[in-house]
Amino acid sequence: MCTKSKHAVAGTALAGLAFARSAHAAGTDLIKIALIGSGGRGTGAAINALKNSANPNVKLIAVADAFQNRLDNSLRAIQAQCKDKVDVPEERKFVGLDAYQKAIDSGADLVLICTPPGFRPMQFEAAVKAGKHIFMEKPVAVDAPGVRRVMAVNDEAKRKGLAVAVGHHLRHEVKHKEVIKRIHDGAIGDVCFLRAYFNSSGVWVRKREPQDTEMQYQVNNWYYFNWLSGDHIVEQHVHDLDVMNWIKDACPVKANGMGGRQFRVGPEYGEIYDHHAVEFEYADGTKMYSFCRHIPACWNSFSEHAHGTKGRVEIQGHGAADLYVDGQPPTHWERGPDGHQVEMDDLFAALAAGQSYNEGDYSATSTMTAILGRMATYSGKALTWEEAIGSTLDLSPDGYTWQSTPQPEPGPDGIYPCAVPGVSRAV
Ligand SMILES: NC(=O)c1ccc[n+]([C@@H]2O[C@H](COP(=O)([O-])OP(=O)(O)OC[C@H]3O[C@@H](n4cnc5c(N)ncnc54)[C@H](O)[C@@H]3O)[C@@H](O)[C@H]2O)c1
Repeated sequence: MCTKSKHAVAGTALAGLAFARSAHAAGTDLIKIALIGSGGRGTGAAINALKNSANPNVKLIAVADAFQNRLDNSLRAIQAQCKDKVDVPEERKFVGLDAYQKAIDSGADLVLICTPPGFRPMQFEAAVKAGKHIFMEKPVAVDAPGVRRVMAVNDEAKRKGLAVAVGHHLRHEVKHKEVIKRIHDGAIGDVCFLRAYFNSSGVWVRKREPQDTEMQYQVNNWYYFNWLSGDHIVEQHVHDLDVMNWIKDACPVKANGMGGRQFRVGPEYGEIYDHHAVEFEYADGTKMYSFCRHIPACWNSFSEHAHGTKGRVEIQGHGAADLYVDGQPPTHWERGPDGHQVEMDDLFAALAAGQSYNEGDYSATSTMTAILGRMATYSGKALTWEEAIGSTLDLSPDGYTWQSTPQPEPGPDGIYPCAVPGVSRAV
């Protein structure tokens, strides 16, 4: 049962215990970094790490990606911005689905795991097993077995004194922290209900090449397959759902919802929906209304809102935040520094200070919240947290080679089956 979402645990000195004996000594010793998944975010995360404000003594020493061209493009981009902090000779460039393990074994202290979310539990587990500090992107899994695995591995990381940072950068945005502190201090009174939106025109599509195996195609065009992305409610909207759980300091106990695909219906869009609307409920009865849509030429919003007995807040994901308290002038916060940089600054500050750092618990429950939402829209059923987290539905393929068979398989017309509420197994 999830009642409390555990917040980032940063700042507890480990008194020279596990942390000092782990991947590197505290202070500003050289921290060697390996990047796993050198796509858009991985490239950005590596640059953020190399430019962190706490320890200039950092080097990128290894890069792993499923595809050679992605690795080459990423290294070029990182070198263009951080030339003197890149030391990746040919023997530390790794390509393929087993490349992640080679990067983990390359002598790095910290690994940045920025692959599609479906690989996260496996790659997080391998990094913790090898005693590495970790930054990993959200979401941390795509199904309930994956979330349970991440939770167990995260406990192991804590026992080993390893830092675990997760790319919920909104947790590091100053205006989010300021306004949510005001909510927790009672500025808007009791929270009556919450709203969350991730409505946008959608993301890239990567086309099938004639020589692609089905596995190569799906890993490349990963956004549209649940075993890789979890659907956009999990891949993207998890940002807002994490903020909702942060405000409530809890995760929902039940959900019902509806969704489907109206615009993205061709074979290139795999199996995911293009819209979801979910009503979540927390243990105290508070409702949270969640909406996400990937359809062009519609109203777009990436924002979080809380309504209380004495006022309300409006937070733009990548914009300003406003607090409205009844009878008082509004309080406004500009966005402030980009959370993607601040999250790395905070991680490296903790490493330099020899302090424990773990963002794994709340990230796992926020990912599970999003998965609960997907289960509700796909099944058309009202579901409890317990049913969702206990689910045995495992989306992983039958192996991790380019010849493996991923789920789902396309029909004769190239169209992939998608979930049908009331019919499909979604839990
Ligand atoms: N925090 C944020 O604001 C934010 C923003 C964008 C993306 N993300 C997250 O970052 C992750 C990556 O997203 P992206 O936009 O960079 O996608 P991307 O497709 O640009 O990058 C993913 C990279 O991983 C590689 N890859 C795929 N499978 C791999 C494997 N098994 N081993 C090694 N490499 C593999 C791909 O070839 C690709 O280069 C996702 O989890 C996404 O949700 C977070």
